[in-house]
Amino acid sequence: MTVHFIGAGPGAPDLLTLRGRDLIAACPVCLYAGSLIPEAILAHCPPGARIVNTAPLDLDAIIAECRAAHEAGLGVARLHSGDLSIWSAMGEQIRRLKALAIPVSVTPGVPSFAAAAAALGAELTLPGLAQSVVLTRTPGRASSMPETESLANFAGTGATLAIHLSIHNLARVVADLTPAYGADCPVAVVYRASWPDQRILRATLATIEALLPEDIERTALILVGPTLGAEGFDESCLYAPDYDRRFRPQRAGGRDHV
Ligand SMILES: C[S@@+](CC[C@H](N)C(=O)[O-])C[C@H]1O[C@@H](n2cnc3c(N)ncnc32)[C@H](O)[C@@H]1O
Repeated sequence: MTVHFIGAGPGAPDLLTLRGRDLIAACPVCLYAGSLIPEAILAHCPPGARIVNTAPLDLDAIIAECRAAHEAGLGVARLHSGDLSIWSAMGEQIRRLKALAIPVSVTPGVPSFAAAAAALGAELTLPGLAQSVVLTRTPGRASSMPETESLANFAGTGATLAIHLSIHNLARVVADLTPAYGADCPVAVVYRASWPDQRILRATLATIEALLPEDIERTALILVGPTLGAEGFDESCLYAPDYDRRFRPQRAGGRDHV
């Protein structure tokens, strides 16, 4: 049987894909990663499903659950928050499962940076301001950072930064980014994006530390860059009246821009 890795989204139960929902409903075993998976998503499990919170388990125990399900001929829905392509620990699980010849599938989810941007009503790539988004973090107890991936290095690009797993480290984020972005660079902190208790703080690199309430110490994203809250950006060419493109040609034989 297959272990289906499913991105469960940022928190709101209706930000789960239809494919993810259907797989959960079809699997008699559900392994979910801790408190970031809402109860309403677990409610898609079929009656009598074995539902296991893997937060207290180590990798060996998680793989043992998958192996037991596989040997019993039972499909597994393996839920992680947001999308699986970033900080999900999916890679190490898939490597172990492949070594055991247990089939896997991967269903993407809505990542938390996208939910945070939606909460802000923000486009993170604005013409003339930033055309790249860096999904990054600061080093943690369990994860060191490659030397070249420092915030100071990313700051040198001027891109919009979506800094995960770092709200407890805000002072360091501010110190590392201020030299390149300037103290008046806009910052947004989005706590529990898409959950009922979502909170948004807007500030600058100079003011964000003083504004952060003490109880926001995890499950928050720090977004930094000139696109946050910007009004003075260029319009894109895409919808400009005189812009010639395949679906809106301006003249016969005009150049086809994408
Ligand atoms: C282990 S990572 C998981 C990231 C996840 N795979 C994703 O696609 O967003 C957990 C971090 O993601 C961010 N995060 C996850 N869910 C969030 C949410 N609903 N609102 C704000 N940040 C969130 C926080 O920075 C948190 O510390």
